[in-house]
Amino acid sequence: MTNGEHDQDIHFDGTAMYAGSTADDAWRRLPTMTPYLLDTLGQGRIPVTLESGEGALLWDVLGRTFWDFYGGHAVTLIGQGHPRWADAIARQARTLSFFTTLADVPVRSRAAAALCKFTSMDAAFFVNAGAEANEAALKIARKSTGRPVIIAMEHGFHGRTMGALGVTWGYRDQHAPAHGEVRFVPFGDLEAFKRALDERVAGVITEPIQGIAGLVVPPEGWLAEVQRLAHANGSVLIADEVQSGIGRAGVPLVSHAMGATPDLVTVGKGVGGGFPVAALLLTKKMVDTVRPGEHGTTFGGAPLACAAVEVTLDILEQEGMLAKANALGDAMKEKLAIPGVVTVRGDGAWIGVVLEKPAKPIAAMLLERGFIVGTSSDPNVLRLAPPAVMPIYVIDQLAEALGLALAAVVKA
Ligand SMILES: Cc1ncc(COP(=O)(O)O)c(C=O)c1O
Repeated sequence: MTNGEHDQDIHFDGTAMYAGSTADDAWRRLPTMTPYLLDTLGQGRIPVTLESGEGALLWDVLGRTFWDFYGGHAVTLIGQGHPRWADAIARQARTLSFFTTLADVPVRSRAAAALCKFTSMDAAFFVNAGAEANEAALKIARKSTGRPVIIAMEHGFHGRTMGALGVTWGYRDQHAPAHGEVRFVPFGDLEAFKRALDERVAGVITEPIQGIAGLVVPPEGWLAEVQRLAHANGSVLIADEVQSGIGRAGVPLVSHAMGATPDLVTVGKGVGGGFPVAALLLTKKMVDTVRPGEHGTTFGGAPLACAAVEVTLDILEQEGMLAKANALGDAMKEKLAIPGVVTVRGDGAWIGVVLEKPAKPIAAMLLERGFIVGTSSDPNVLRLAPPAVMPIYVIDQLAEALGLALAAVVKA
């Protein structure tokens, strides 16, 4: 089957997609996946059909090799196919493949204890995705305070389900009327935050560093002050660390590193090392507000997911992944600061490269040279979230390819 305009060289099975392609073409081409999959990305898709991966490397169906500077969407901090990770999931599959939260299973309790220890939080509730973790956090903030309003940040991202979408800047407008009573304030602006706070505010939700917005870092001390003001107002602080947390930024939780102690923290992406799992983390004070029957899930805390969490946290600790992420971040900050780059920001294996020119054509050219990188909602920012196991020497290769791509754009 072919897809109309490009039926000379693009087939839905992806086999001929590189024929005659240029870097510029790559991003413009229509998706090559089967029509039996709903396409919600269109031209936003990375035009490769991936088949396998190992560590920081990926291979496509044509046998081309790519360095993964996107981490499969800021997920695979421990890399692709870690042997201990794969073994733990397989072992759990043979031991007890599934039972819901109605009955205790040891691996769930172990994973919760390990996650709380890793993040210095008091309790965990496992769910399936970041958006679902944020749904739970928003519900608890409203129920525990008996107030209706949530303050969220301009350009923040919290997910695509109705409640999470309601606090997600921009995306919520596609599905108007958006859910919930939400007040948006500029990220990092304390005065605006103070003006939005009143006795109707249940809580504030924010990423400590905005990821999809392009690794936007707030002013020093901002988050801790937001927490102080929120608490003085009787409101709770929800830190969305779905992207930033669990070592991605070189620390267990960015909010804690910023001197804040949020009441509720959501984590996802890297927490299962690539297995779909996320969690709501609570302080003891918040645990005491939740009554039986107020929340639940069938698949959250599934044994396979919990086996993945348990082994992922162990790999992060035993194999020094946070230190590796930090070394990678330092190298990226140093080596990617080349002409045509305005600044390189972020921490650990989570870096935003702010370009003088639009990032999308640059990302397409990097893809042609064997580097998969992310973009962001800021059109000039490349978002890099490689596995911590990315070899440092590859940063030099990326810097060279980036330099060539930037030079080509300037020439064009
Ligand atoms: C900060 C943040 N929160 C929430 C989400 C939503 O997570 P999920 O796609 O797993 O629902 C994302 C996803 O990119 C995110 O970056």
